[in-house]
Amino acid sequence: MLKGKVIVIGVCGGIAAYKSADLVSRLKKLNAEVHVIMTRSACEFVNPLTFQSLSQNYVISDMFQEPRSWEIEHISLAQKADLFVIAPATANIIGKVANGIADDMLSTTIMATKSPVVFAPAMNCNMYENVIVQQNIERLKALNYIFVEPQIGRLACGDIGKGKLAEADDIVEMIVQTVGYQKDLKNMKLLVTAGPTREPIDPVRFITNYSSGKMGYAIARAAKYRGADVILVTGPTALKPIEGIQMVKVNTALEMYDAVMQHYESTSVIIKAAAVSDYRPLQVSQNKIKKEHSDLEIKVTKNPDILADLGKKVKNQVLIGFSMETQHLEEYAREKLIRKNLDLIVANDLSEPGAGFAVDTNIVKMIDRNGNVENISIMTKDQLAHIILDKALAIYHQKLC
Ligand code: C5P
Repeated sequence: MLKGKVIVIGVCGGIAAYKSADLVSRLKKLNAEVHVIMTRSACEFVNPLTFQSLSQNYVISDMFQEPRSWEIEHISLAQKADLFVIAPATANIIGKVANGIADDMLSTTIMATKSPVVFAPAMNCNMYENVIVQQNIERLKALNYIFVEPQIGRLACGDIGKGKLAEADDIVEMIVQTVGYQKDLKNMKLLVTAGPTREPIDPVRFITNYSSGKMGYAIARAAKYRGADVILVTGPTALKPIEGIQMVKVNTALEMYDAVMQHYESTSVIIKAAAVSDYRPLQVSQNKIKKEHSDLEIKVTKNPDILADLGKKVKNQVLIGFSMETQHLEEYAREKLIRKNLDLIVANDLSEPGAGFAVDTNIVKMIDRNGNVENISIMTKDQLAHIILDKALAIYHQKLC
């Protein structure tokens, strides 16, 4: 994901400095070339040897130390970097950069770079809320510096408030989003649906299915990374909301229908990964149904097929559906592709280990309008999301021609 990318991590002097060791290790696992610059006070909290061992690169801290090559260190790193991450970013470094001060190795190198700079602040909550710090942050944001917000929690000083360094996951996500992918979906709007629907029986019970929403969320996240404007219409899931996209939360198939119909017209690609309930109880009991009888019949009625209705309405949009089967996978998928007027159908066989609901992987067949079948062997849903988006983009360009 970050193969060949040069990431420079600036570590400042705060108690959270030790957490950056984990960040370096995660970035190395994603195949980035990592260089660490430490401020003098950071070296009081963590020995540079820790970062040197993890990054497998010499750690720079002193501007006047003997250079190891003829290159001017801060200029060469500033030019080489694809991205700078300042974690933890203290009030001091934020203040310096916001006000043009370059008086040590880290601030000088940030000043000399043209690459994106991400700040992950960590400090006492009163410091963070200080108007001067907030004004400096606003100033930097206006200049396109990127921020990963600190969390609210118990701080090292014992205070409870906003100032804890963001989770490594969130910092990595920002890095990946900024430099990990080509922005080939820039200026495109995508509508993605995900998760199951819930069809109420009474105030405490509902009909649903095992969908986790992982596939749809993976597509929405991948599209966001590639620069798309994403609307995610999601049924109830246990997944973390995706920052930076429009999330529309729904419960029932009818609510999903309304949300999709409200938004689809402004989009150019629609990917329906949701496992919509085909039926809903005909009548929803106002009160909890009591267990009075040994048998109970619940009459159900068919939900509208959102995808089939979209198939009748779309003009130039790319329309992609999913098909989950336990038998006759290809035959059923082809039939749906035609009946629902789709450009592509992604079919997976629920009986195959590693495919379908809840798991992090999938095994699919992608069938297009011309009858071409692509067999995609087992891979993570994140990887598959990119393959589906590649295909969507290719179809989109074909339609434009
Ligand atoms: O017909 P089937 O439910 O197998 O088709 C699956 C595809 O149709 C998925 O893309 C799903 O999101 C969509 N679908 C829908 N509305 C329904 C049922 C399925 O949009 N009521």
